[in-house]
Amino acid sequence: MTPSAIAGSDRLTERMTEQTTERMTALIGEIRAVVDRGLPPELTAYLVGERLAPHLRAEADGPGALLTPAQCEGDPQRYRQHVLHAEEDGSFSVVALVWLPGQQTPIHDHVSWCVAGVHRGQESETRYRLVSDGRTARLVETEHVAGPTGTVAAFAPPGDIHLVRNACTTTAISIHVYGADVSRLGTSIRRVYRLPADQGR
Ligand SMILES: [Fe+2]
Repeated sequence: MTPSAIAGSDRLTERMTEQTTERMTALIGEIRAVVDRGLPPELTAYLVGERLAPHLRAEADGPGALLTPAQCEGDPQRYRQHVLHAEEDGSFSVVALVWLPGQQTPIHDHVSWCVAGVHRGQESETRYRLVSDGRTARLVETEHVAGPTGTVAAFAPPGDIHLVRNACTTTAISIHVYGADVSRLGTSIRRVYRLPADQGR
């Protein structure tokens, strides 16, 4: 199976952008101001993470909310993606991912730089390194990271292989900003890895 076919099987279906709250609209403006500077991907991701952080944990309801109640709804079948914004020129997009207890991603990397901020609950992340001897390839776990509410992670390919899961007993919600138009692509996943994964050492 080709990488694109694998990614296609994990394609998320909600391609339309959803109505945003006043706070999210303000955040999108802050992100746009950073992205329009045209800085290198690593620096762009870092600065976008700085803008995102103060908006996390914003009250769940009312005028100060970051998300609408509908954008906090999960899906019993799999983690759910709500596309909140896709910039017209394709330079960035913003999504909310809702994870019910036990839900997780496959091991994957990304099409672009990415910023992820935990808005509610806690997410667990396992990072991997791809090791090849020229003929075969395998993954080695490099790090486990617990992400409580308020945690922000910013990264840019390459070296961005990971798995994210909600290991807690309550719903987790994270806000992700990508340097690509996820509403058009359907997913931020570049490649899903189905290789043997060794424990880190
Ligand atoms: Fe990811």
